[in-house]
Amino acid sequence: MSRIFSGVQPTGDLHLGNYLGAIRNWVRLQDDYECLFCVVDMHAITVWQEPDELRASTREVAAALLASGIDPRRNIVFNQSQVPGHAELAWIFNCVARMGWLNRMTQFKEKAGKNRENASIGLFAYPCLMAADILLYKATHVPVGEDQKQHLELTRDIAQKFNNDFKKELFPVVEPLIFGAATRVMSLRDGSKKMSKSDPSDLSRITMTDDADTIAKKIRKAKSDPDALPDSPDGFKGRPEAANLMGIYAALSDSDIKEVCERFGGEQFSTFKQHLADLAVDKLSPIQDEMRRLMGDPGYVDGMLNEGAVRAQEMAEPILKEVRETIGFLRK
Ligand code: AMP
Ligand code: TRP
Repeated sequence: MSRIFSGVQPTGDLHLGNYLGAIRNWVRLQDDYECLFCVVDMHAITVWQEPDELRASTREVAAALLASGIDPRRNIVFNQSQVPGHAELAWIFNCVARMGWLNRMTQFKEKAGKNRENASIGLFAYPCLMAADILLYKATHVPVGEDQKQHLELTRDIAQKFNNDFKKELFPVVEPLIFGAATRVMSLRDGSKKMSKSDPSDLSRITMTDDADTIAKKIRKAKSDPDALPDSPDGFKGRPEAANLMGIYAALSDSDIKEVCERFGGEQFSTFKQHLADLAVDKLSPIQDEMRRLMGDPGYVDGMLNEGAVRAQEMAEPILKEVRETIGFLRK
């Protein structure tokens, strides 16, 4: 049986990278798999979050998932902190994973920056909680953007070490699902940097709450180069901004990058940007309208998350029992 788990952090506004790299793919997978989609509020607090903002962001991300087309009846949609098994299994994995493994995580190095001594222990142990999220349900497939690949390799290492240590095939070895034309959307201000919620420049990303004028403005101001656009992906060498904007166009229009190059090759950036802005507004505005409607009904969103958590809890409980038993913890 295949089971999917994926998560998104409620930190700041969701952006086009989150949508194209992850959420849109989740919508497509829900027909073929049993899926759990989680707003990972416990991951969010590995760096400081204002409590009121965390609450609002958790609801906003949940609303974005539904507005993008995820059906909360067919899938389990919930927020992580409502199912205590995530924290319990994360602790166990803290005792399975090795310091050396976590020391190699590039996301920790990026997020901790120069001031490592002052990073929270949670930020360092973050990948163990992520492994717990997935393995608490024995999920087999994890759809994410390219940047999460290393964390998923660690999840596989943890599952294998646990199984080896206890001589039991308890956890599956998970497969990442990284697909689509935009698995790594880059910043609009710098084609060598990933589009991210934490970039200080608001112009670097298109968010799920930007209105049509803002989307058009950000695309107009996006970094470009003086040459005409290439007519094949071979022409992207040394031109990360062209690759990024054309990749975004391909993803939003559900075509492949070759077709986009064939269509716009030889055009100036200014003409292409106009087309890209129209397409982005066209694709994002129905989602945004629905998000706004859902945000006006926080009672509904909270109720949906509560229900999801009850179902997640039921799924996790027998697996946790098996884990406790395997480790040698006494029964309740
Ligand atoms: P996060 O916002 O870090 O919780 O990320 C949620 C999901 O979005 C994960 O699956 C990430 O891999 C994906 N993601 C985040 N940033 C990008 C990006 N710039 N391009 C593609 N996918 C991304
Ligand atoms: N670490 C992921 C991110 O920042 C979010 C996440 C947490 C996740 N737990 C997960 C993704 C489990 C997939 C599966 O993007």
